[in-house]
Amino acid sequence: MSERTVQDRVKLHDDIGVAEFDFSDMNLTTQAQVDEFYDEAERRLAASNRQWYFLVIYTNCVIAPEVWDRFAARGKNTNIGYSLGTVRVGTSARTRDAIREHAGRAMFRANIFDSRDQAMFAIGEMRKRREVLGADAAEVFLRVEDIHLSFGGVRALSGVGFQVDRGEIYSIIGPNGAGKTSMLNVISGFYRPNRGQIIFEGKDRTHLPAHAVAALGFARTFQNIALFKGMTTLDNIMTGRSLKMKSNFLTDALYWGLAQKEEIAHREQVERIIDFLEIQAIRKTPVGRLPYGLQKRVELARALAMEAKVLLLDEPMAGMNVEEKEDMARFILDVNEQWGTTIILIEHDMGVVMDISTHVVVLDYGLKIAEGTPDEVRGDPVVIRAYLGVAH
Ligand SMILES: Nc1ncnc2c1ncn2[C@@H]1O[C@H](COP(=O)(O)OP(=O)(O)OP(=O)(O)O)[C@@H](O)[C@H]1O
Ligand SMILES: [Mg+2]
Repeated sequence: MSERTVQDRVKLHDDIGVAEFDFSDMNLTTQAQVDEFYDEAERRLAASNRQWYFLVIYTNCVIAPEVWDRFAARGKNTNIGYSLGTVRVGTSARTRDAIREHAGRAMFRANIFDSRDQAMFAIGEMRKRREVLGADAAEVFLRVEDIHLSFGGVRALSGVGFQVDRGEIYSIIGPNGAGKTSMLNVISGFYRPNRGQIIFEGKDRTHLPAHAVAALGFARTFQNIALFKGMTTLDNIMTGRSLKMKSNFLTDALYWGLAQKEEIAHREQVERIIDFLEIQAIRKTPVGRLPYGLQKRVELARALAMEAKVLLLDEPMAGMNVEEKEDMARFILDVNEQWGTTIILIEHDMGVVMDISTHVVVLDYGLKIAEGTPDEVRGDPVVIRAYLGVAH
């Protein structure tokens, strides 16, 4: 039996998320020995409050036949409780065969490797798979299902559903009156659908009011610009921070120092956005005096100030000249790429939509008539007939 303590043999590598259990050179002959090891392991794992990739070292370890069942049962429990995936290193043929045999019976993957390096590499691969799948497969980012919305006799939306993955630029297109803005209003919580469901980050948020939806991380711009025309660009953008500000009148009075600090932090973030959207020159200008294209940019800036997870943009390029449109398209792409913001975009300019979107849904008279990648949608005869071929 080696001199090393059990405490020594359980190592939690925080930075890489690996819990290492080192049974090397041990000679496990009694149940008490087995329990001592797993008690220590479980205590540490429970205290860590997280899940780990398990690396189990069996080099030159001997497990007596009479304690194998106990060993396997405790190992399995620990795995179920705390493991994201387990790899094993074992050089002794006997131990390996025993592990394989137990793996077969207890229905777990043996994952035995010849060296610690190989095992660590396998953990890296597991982690990558998990990251790829994690966001997409484990939970729905945003899904609208079977949305119905009527205004008196007008059916604005009839059973529309689609799914947006994290990080997409997802466009909603369709002729005038198709229901695009209505859909955005449903997503933002501004309209309550008559029927249907909205799932965000795996949770049903169908019945949340607009302010609660905003707090979840949705920000929007409007088809008809909705800014405070008499206020400066800077002040308009600051209004986007209001959701983020914690101080209120009372705490301001009590802790003016804190409130001032907070104000400075907000200003810094706003300045970053102003730089990003290249609107330094108009920061002190009342927005009512700005040309339309720049007002649209200020509105985007205010939405960005909310640091949303999802930006809902209703015709951000309407009424712009070609150059302004190109600028706006570039900003949308930059926001998406640099901040990972998911973007849902309504836009009539097909050139822009096809250039920057990951997916497109096509509405017509409140119905979804097509959905797919820009190429799929472009080539769809139904879409061409209903929309793309029709000038308006
Ligand atoms: N608040 C409302 N009250 C009554 N009817 C409405 C309301 N909002 C939308 N509608 C109607 O619902 C239908 C869809 O309108 P919506 O504004 O969603 O279309 P859109 O696709 O955004 O059109 P556009 O391209 O012209 O902006 C239209 O018939 C519209 O008149
Ligand atoms: Mg609209």
